[in-house]
Amino acid sequence: MSKFVRVAGTAAALLFAASPAGAQGVVNVYCSVQVEWCQAAATEFEKATRIKVNMTQKGSGEVLAQIRAEAQNPRGDVWFGGTGDPHLILADDGLSEPYDSPLLAQLHPWAIRQHEIAKKRSVGVYSGAVGFGFNRELLARKSLAAPTCWADLVKPEYKGEVQMANPNSSGTAYVVIATLIQIMGEEQAFGYLKQLHPNINAYARAGTGPIKAVARGETGVSISFVHDATTEANAGFPVGYSTPCEGTGFEIGSMSIIKGSRNMANARRFYDWALTPEAQKLGFDVAKQMQMPSNKAAPLPQGAPDLTKIKLVDYDFVKFGQAAERKRLLERWDREIGSLAR
Ligand code: F6P
Repeated sequence: MSKFVRVAGTAAALLFAASPAGAQGVVNVYCSVQVEWCQAAATEFEKATRIKVNMTQKGSGEVLAQIRAEAQNPRGDVWFGGTGDPHLILADDGLSEPYDSPLLAQLHPWAIRQHEIAKKRSVGVYSGAVGFGFNRELLARKSLAAPTCWADLVKPEYKGEVQMANPNSSGTAYVVIATLIQIMGEEQAFGYLKQLHPNINAYARAGTGPIKAVARGETGVSISFVHDATTEANAGFPVGYSTPCEGTGFEIGSMSIIKGSRNMANARRFYDWALTPEAQKLGFDVAKQMQMPSNKAAPLPQGAPDLTKIKLVDYDFVKFGQAAERKRLLERWDREIGSLAR
């Protein structure tokens, strides 16, 4: 099997393709989980089906933009992973295909609800909660306590110590903004983000950028999915996490078949395969990712954050999964936060 990897500029966009002997056609997958999981999924799906996988890894906001840009001439077949809101927005745009997988009955209710809200155009693959990641050693050196509440993050002692992602490219950051709105109301949430701005040292492109910066000791604190903090801790970095005392939001990491897919039969095979317990276990077994899988027979990875023990908001996926709402909130963020002096 020949395999090549091409990294496009600084975008960490990864394209890799394999040519198994006697390949049974191809499927083009846009992938918004971490690259190790994308690679593992491509390799194992190819092994199981002999269908060649062309895989591109990008953030949720970036994939949404790409599928929209390609709407007249679709080049992708499946969008695998990434936060659920942009998948709902793709469905709202009419740019994904309705599909009833025979695997649906095996899924947790929250994954099936994503399918219902999307009018069958998307489905839940995993779930995870937003919280704070922190570097224990760096915080100890600076005599800073680990944050435990949203209210902590805006304290002056964290000036320049916090990192989050940019909500235009990152689905994680969009979940953070939607979460704050659901906890505080929109005006207060934007006031909070303005207050937070001096404490932010960078708005990273990818949702996992800030926790990787925490792991490397480049920033003390990140706003991240807490499953990504456990992945870094398991890799040996001095990383801890907490979930906000006021409550927090969560994602239904999702999957959609792209409207106009030129490889529809293979797209459906990939979709069905990705919902099996075996495929879902790859996220942890091979790629060391710690989300909660959507297939009831796929176990919660050992040491993964247990969502049933976290104070979660009743996330309004219908509201925050609307194209017009996302556009309005991103424009407001660009105008009031993203454009502020640094
Ligand atoms: O792969 C890790 C992860 O945190 C997923 O759980 C999530 O769906 C994805 O990253 C979001 O990435 P981004 O914020 O870059 O869109």
